Amino acid sequence: MNTPGLRYSWAAVLALLLCGAGTACLAQGMHTGTAGKSVEDPGAGRHRSDARTLVQFPPEVKRETLATMRMHLQGLAEIQQAMAAGDLDAAARVASMKLGMSSMHGDQAQQEARYMPPGMRELGARLHRQAGEFALAAQDAAATGDVRKAQVMLGQMMQTCVACHAAYRLK
Ligand code: HEC
Repeated sequence: MNTPGLRYSWAAVLALLLCGAGTACLAQGMHTGTAGKSVEDPGAGRHRSDARTLVQFPPEVKRETLATMRMHLQGLAEIQQAMAAGDLDAAARVASMKLGMSSMHGDQAQQEARYMPPGMRELGARLHRQAGEFALAAQDAAATGDVRKAQVMLGQMMQTCVACHAAYRLK
């Protein structure tokens, strides 16, 4: 008998029975849903008090950093749209231009890195590395028609946004 709806609700009931309605269970469910390696899980337990590390950038560097951040978010939106439209070449281009190393102008990257704690610097470098890897995977997908790897890479890239935001804030 094919009753997927029924089976689904049984799974929900089972989850409730096993966990109760506790928030710990809720958080666990959310994290197990992520395919990327969010090993360090910097967001865990930081919801009530803001335990993010406060990082001080000079005002000008902060302004540029936040502008770059908004461009990163726009880049993700454009990548998502391009992939939905099946334009993998465009997705690769956006990743390189708006999320990759060349998304920053002049010595902006060095300027920012100077003021970052090592963990933050590592996450920044990881993002740009992943953007390059995503661009390659998207180009491959344009040739082969298999978008799975590019989709996985996109998810991992977004995990890096999440990880850094969970751990750091700017003064
Ligand atoms: C290396 C760390 C790091 C990474 C990686 C990172 N961010 Fe940020 N982002 C920050 C910090 C720090 C802030 C400031 C947060 C605060 O002070 O509360 C910020 C702020 C932002 C903002 C708010 C901008 C504004 O005008 O206030 C957006 C949007 C944003 N990030 C998007 C992204 C996206 C999208 C990604 C991934 C593609 C990303 N960020 C990756 C550190 C990072």
